[in-house]
Amino acid sequence: MINNEFTSSRTETDAGSFYDRIANLYDITFKFNRYEHSLADYIQKYPLPLSFGSRVLDAGCGTGLLTLVLLKNFDIPIKITAVDLSASSLTTAKKASEEATKGRRRSTYFTQANLLSLPFEDASFDMVVTSGALEYVPIGDGLRELSRVIAPGGHLLHIPIRPSLMSRVLELMFRFKTHPPEEIEAHTNKYFRIVHQYKFPQIEPIGWTKTIILSQKV
Ligand SMILES: C[S@@+](CC[C@H](N)C(=O)[O-])C[C@H]1O[C@@H](n2cnc3c(N)ncnc32)[C@H](O)[C@@H]1O
Repeated sequence: MINNEFTSSRTETDAGSFYDRIANLYDITFKFNRYEHSLADYIQKYPLPLSFGSRVLDAGCGTGLLTLVLLKNFDIPIKITAVDLSASSLTTAKKASEEATKGRRRSTYFTQANLLSLPFEDASFDMVVTSGALEYVPIGDGLRELSRVIAPGGHLLHIPIRPSLMSRVLELMFRFKTHPPEEIEAHTNKYFRIVHQYKFPQIEPIGWTKTIILSQKV
């Protein structure tokens, strides 16, 4: 079900309507750059701290690429909630996840929401995953809100954009702002203990622009 009731500022609404226009282009671009494959490799190397029935939130899920990685790489049932500002991205995400989970017992719920004011109680999730979405909001505000909905001892899997020449190009194409790594780290340390920071192999296209920070809510 896609719930259309949400509040957001003008800038955030802009990000949502921008992605409403480019959802298909974004989805195709990222299917060609081995994004899913690189994330699946990471999960193989570092199994995520999830167990039977874990509640996971994908914040800024877009067309559902990260949600799909979780659905395809976990044999145990987990409950995924995925939110985004962009209604057409959510429609694509929902369709793809239904196809990926056909015949398997999986709980996935998509709803339209602003990650700066999530419509969930405190401590509602065991893990929040987020990739390429915090670049559209002030990093401190975003991490504070994500931390609010994570249960104590739960985890944040954050896949931020890292500064690089390629990221500059993506910033212009996708209208976001890369946060300086030291700012991300400082804000993360306010609410979390960093478990590890992972650099993708440079041979993988995702490694040109992204990194992974796994942290635990303190
Ligand atoms: C670069 S895409 C990343 C999508 C997805 N996480 C992925 O890894 O492919 C950024 C997404 O963040 C969403 N977004 C931007 N600001 C947001 C906000 N304040 N709340 C929720 N979603 C937001 C956009 O609508 C867009 O779908």
